[in-house]
Amino acid sequence: MSSSKMRTNQEERERYRKSYELAPRLKRAIPGGAHTYAKGDDQYPELGPAVIARGAGCHVWDVDGNEFIEYGMGLRAVTLGHAFPPVVEAVRASLSLGTNFTRPAIQELECAEAFLSMIEGADMVKFTKDGSTAQTAAVKLARKHTGRDTIAICAEHPFFSYDDWFIATTTMDGGIPAAARSETLRFPYNDLAAVRALFDAHPGKIAAVILEAMRADEPAPGFLSGLRDLCHERGALLVFDEMITGFRWNNGGAQKEYGVVPDLSTFGKALANGFPLSALCGKREFMRYGSRERPEDDVFLLSTTHGAETPSLVAAIATMQVYKSEPVIAHLHRQGEQLAAGVREVSRRHGTDKHVEVFGRGCNLLFGTKGPDGKPSQEYRMLFIQEIVRRGIIAPSFIVSYSHSDEDVAKTIEAVDGALAVYARALEDGNVSKHLVGPPSRHVFDRR
Ligand SMILES: Cc1ncc(COP(=O)(O)O)c(C=O)c1O
Repeated sequence: MSSSKMRTNQEERERYRKSYELAPRLKRAIPGGAHTYAKGDDQYPELGPAVIARGAGCHVWDVDGNEFIEYGMGLRAVTLGHAFPPVVEAVRASLSLGTNFTRPAIQELECAEAFLSMIEGADMVKFTKDGSTAQTAAVKLARKHTGRDTIAICAEHPFFSYDDWFIATTTMDGGIPAAARSETLRFPYNDLAAVRALFDAHPGKIAAVILEAMRADEPAPGFLSGLRDLCHERGALLVFDEMITGFRWNNGGAQKEYGVVPDLSTFGKALANGFPLSALCGKREFMRYGSRERPEDDVFLLSTTHGAETPSLVAAIATMQVYKSEPVIAHLHRQGEQLAAGVREVSRRHGTDKHVEVFGRGCNLLFGTKGPDGKPSQEYRMLFIQEIVRRGIIAPSFIVSYSHSDEDVAKTIEAVDGALAVYARALEDGNVSKHLVGPPSRHVFDRR
């Protein structure tokens, strides 16, 4: 929407009547007002949709019928696009065949084999419903194999699991035994010497080193292979959390992209285009602790009632088929890079390029928002999101899908252009609250 036609705040409010009615009901019924904290209303502007009704491709419609181009796509799960026809059709066809049986469904085998044909370094895979559970299962296997308890995680990587061993390191650690806090150590990304120092400081204690192969910065030459060699030298397992990098960096995951095969790795988000499925995979010698074949194979590895319900497996098979046959990864990189270039260009034009920055790979484009003091600012973040929402874009980050077209990207750059004009005014008058309707956004948690 061009600035001459911008709606007043009051007119904006009127567009969200149903959202404003439903938001308090969400909060009454659900702690945090959403089943995922990252979707909660402390993450999004007051002048915007609170509840989504449907999506198609990369467009969503809220309960009031307002249409938006969406980024983030279900916390990065919907890589192909909302209601992507080949996935929907495959799931629809499977539904009338039943969803959960007393012996393994044929789709358990088909999905496992399809997955293992893509993730070449893995010998075995076990599926579950979410990334957190898969990650904790990796921890369990590493502890079993090494007889050690301590886990070392990358300090800059924001999330690994909702389980105690990780959440104890955050400020949302209520209800977690104090002892859990000492189980997890942290190291900086791209700093092999720091990991070596951790091993030296905790001899014979560290069971696993866990990280995303890359998040914002590319791995330094030799970092990932050095980490693998160091782990093995010290008797620990290397675990890649591929929840985000999997099927986004490369069809074979970041492990294929960087040529470093970890002992175990976990996948999830992009696996089934938004259907609930995640995977723990890795070398047979570790995975088999969950096999029940030998007396020592006693790890209770990811065994749940809904672990292998067939619709998600069918969705994953259909999704992986699209990855194999269409240039999904290339599209994600290209659209993200196009968007990054456009945002950088308009940001330079508005003189906000030191304050609104895009970074990361095109397939996983992130943005940072800083205030006049050059420090990251939640108020300015919310202002930026508010102003792009006003212009038809919902974007907690700029995560593209296979459905983001050139036209969607161009419209987004136009919206960012308009939003940055407001951002620049806020920086100039140093009074962000004057421009922001409602409270600033909050981190879901801070790391201790
Ligand atoms: C890198 C990473 N690992 C693990 C998880 C946990 O996955 P889930 O939310 O499916 O439990 C997430 C979720 O955001 C993540 O981004």
